[in-house]
Amino acid sequence: MSFSIEGKKILITGGARGIGGESARHFARQGAHVVTLDARDEEGTQLAKEATEAGPGKVTYRHMDITKVADIRAGVDAAVEELGGLDAVFNAAEVMLLKPAEDTTLDDWNEQLTTNAKGTAYTCQAVFPHLKERGGSIVNLSAGVALTAGPINSASFSASKGSIISYTRTIALEWAQFGIRCNCVSPLVKTPLLDEVRAAMSEDDRVAHERFFEKSVPMGRLGDIDTDLAPVFVFLASDASKFITSQIIGVDGGLVPSR
Ligand SMILES: NC(=O)c1ccc[n+]([C@@H]2O[C@H](COP(=O)([O-])OP(=O)(O)OC[C@H]3O[C@@H](n4cnc5c(N)ncnc54)[C@H](O)[C@@H]3O)[C@@H](O)[C@H]2O)c1
Repeated sequence: MSFSIEGKKILITGGARGIGGESARHFARQGAHVVTLDARDEEGTQLAKEATEAGPGKVTYRHMDITKVADIRAGVDAAVEELGGLDAVFNAAEVMLLKPAEDTTLDDWNEQLTTNAKGTAYTCQAVFPHLKERGGSIVNLSAGVALTAGPINSASFSASKGSIISYTRTIALEWAQFGIRCNCVSPLVKTPLLDEVRAAMSEDDRVAHERFFEKSVPMGRLGDIDTDLAPVFVFLASDASKFITSQIIGVDGGLVPSR
């Protein structure tokens, strides 16, 4: 049993910044080889360059629009070719629309579910042929709001994340026979997205958002990607977690206990 990811071949969607991007840097520092897929080409290319220069692992960025099935398949196939195989997949691409439930339009629902739920599902489908001979680890990013109400105005986002949990547990059962482990992680960490979301809020909403998160976290703070979250990802990509599947793992300072 090994906690090492040295030499592991890892694919990350949504890897241009935030959780996906900083995890790619972390993995490369541990000697893993990573391909990141995202639609933020400038940020993704720059991050991959910096991570590769820092080494010892290598990070390669490729463009992929996760709302397009053909793009997902092409991106995954090209990534596996670049890596020379595949050991672990992290699905972090997402959009987060915050609107009152009564104002959420069909277009809002389509964007939210197409990017988050279907994007994750089609990526899992696209990596399956590459994992089914030797097994591997799929980690899908869920969210605490899939299991409990809040934050404000998150109905369609929460539903998209709830669907990721249901989907992940189903494929965990279907693909266990191939040695493919499928788990969800629900994080609570500081990212650029959080700053953007709060900047767009009214003062009242921002205060309510902060109250729900920072002030309710039993451990009293938001997490840090590099020191709090990425080490859990390393564990899930490593052979040390080879008997763990179908779990929802909260890395959120105890905010939303998983079940
Ligand atoms: N930050 C947190 O505390 C937190 C909490 C709960 C869940 N999560 C989940 O973690 C994941 C990463 O979150 P983050 O905070 O790093 O967000 P982020 O916005 O920084 O990262 C999401 C990435 O997805 C990419 N993306 C969006 N639409 C895309 C598309 N159509 N095609 C390709 N890429 C696309 C973005 O360009 C971005 O780089 C998300 O799934 C999010 O729901 C984060």
